[in-house]
Amino acid sequence: MRISIFGLGYVGSVTAACLARAGHEVFGVDVNPDKVAMINTGESPVIEPGLADLVEAMVTSGRLKATVCVDEAVKHSDVAMICVGTPSSRNGQIDLAAIERVVEDVGCAVKRRPHPFTVVLRSTVLPGTTERVLAPMLPDGVSIAVNPEFMREGTSLADFEHPPMTLVGCDADEAASPLRTLYAKVGAPFVQTSIKVAEMTKYVSNAFHALKICFANEIGDLCESLGVDPHEVIQTFLLDRKLNISEAYLRPGFAFGGSCLPKDLRALMYVARKSDVQVPLLSSIDPSNEHQLRRGIEAVLSSRKKRIGVVGLAFKSGTDDLRESPIVTLVETLLGKGCTVRIFDPNVRLAALVGANRRYIEKEIPHISSLMCDDLHTLVEEAEVIVIGSAGDDAARALAHCRPEQIVVDVTRSALSSVHRARAAYESKMIVSAGAASPREIRE
Ligand SMILES: NC(=O)c1ccc[n+]([C@@H]2O[C@H](COP(=O)([O-])OP(=O)(O)OC[C@H]3O[C@@H](n4cnc5c(N)ncnc54)[C@H](O)[C@@H]3O)[C@@H](O)[C@H]2O)c1
Repeated sequence: MRISIFGLGYVGSVTAACLARAGHEVFGVDVNPDKVAMINTGESPVIEPGLADLVEAMVTSGRLKATVCVDEAVKHSDVAMICVGTPSSRNGQIDLAAIERVVEDVGCAVKRRPHPFTVVLRSTVLPGTTERVLAPMLPDGVSIAVNPEFMREGTSLADFEHPPMTLVGCDADEAASPLRTLYAKVGAPFVQTSIKVAEMTKYVSNAFHALKICFANEIGDLCESLGVDPHEVIQTFLLDRKLNISEAYLRPGFAFGGSCLPKDLRALMYVARKSDVQVPLLSSIDPSNEHQLRRGIEAVLSSRKKRIGVVGLAFKSGTDDLRESPIVTLVETLLGKGCTVRIFDPNVRLAALVGANRRYIEKEIPHISSLMCDDLHTLVEEAEVIVIGSAGDDAARALAHCRPEQIVVDVTRSALSSVHRARAAYESKMIVSAGAASPREIRE
């Protein structure tokens, strides 16, 4: 394929050299004439292990060259990849000046060439940027795709060959198809999704990486103060691929509760305080959880309705454990605000409860047990607002019986709520394939 690459910094130089190595014809473009001259004399404009040799070999082969002229590059390519910087402004806001300029230039140049053309945004941008900034500047008929970069400086040549995935966001298959050809030799799943999801996934990935680093550092500090080897602890922790390094607990939903997480986190915070160890990240978990609880409460109160039906009381579906259930706190707050609350949860039948759970209900929340209702139909009939406290069959049955004027607050954010109906619709469009040959539809 013939590709023009705008921006010859870390991402652009590596992408240009690696695509040339894969057999494509690449034209690099930069506003900095020194970087352009360096490429044309076979030198790498950035320091990156292996890149100098690769650039030299690709320029010698004739598959890689560079120019400052946008028209020349666009004329000789079918795909333009935008790899210019998106730095922070002083207030943290993303600075899109370089993107805007390059898109304007490419947009003008494309008008002067007849063939179909695809513009691929590889720079990191916030969701909505492509639709708001790129699309209006490009002439009709130009396909647009977002293709975030997942390489790490220092190992970027190897990362280019084997990224965690090739992520492509686009609204039409025509935009994805040149990218399937472009990355045919890359050993990674090809993930095609919407533009906004692709844009956001890059930020989520970087935020998560940053979170992991800070988490490990704070755990290290705590371990050291407690006389435990932090490396051995983390190595042991990493052995659990079922709950620790896995998809578990990584679904947007509601606040956590239950008999373990809150109490164990409290014990850890206490020992950190006692040992004078600062753990700002770990200390922010409880406030974050509280915030989720408040969001749920606010969603119900803002309806200004008083008759509330709650489906699911335990901290997660399929359990009768009510200890520190955030739904119990939600119910208590609503009662305090003068709401009438009825609760349906067949897992929580007082007669069948024993031990700590029964003691908890009888001693701590006797007022809650009196609100329990055996009949889901009656609960739905009488409620003005239905709160989905745990996802599952009961929630589905409750929603199936809802009247249009009833308000549903689904704190679980399960596939049942309206937001998640939208999400499910997008997910049915997401295609993950090991290679272009075997696309597989992913559905919830
Ligand atoms: N560096 C990384 O490891 C990395 C990894 C993944 C994603 N990203 C993202 O990729 C993007 C590029 O990052 P980078 O580190 O390569 O940036 P960089 O600052 O190293 O390079 C940007 C290049 O774009 C050029 N440029 C600016 N305006 C231009 C224009 N109008 N036309 C042509 N060229 C222009 C600059 O001269 C510079 O050479 C950013 O959005 C960044 O967040 C970076």
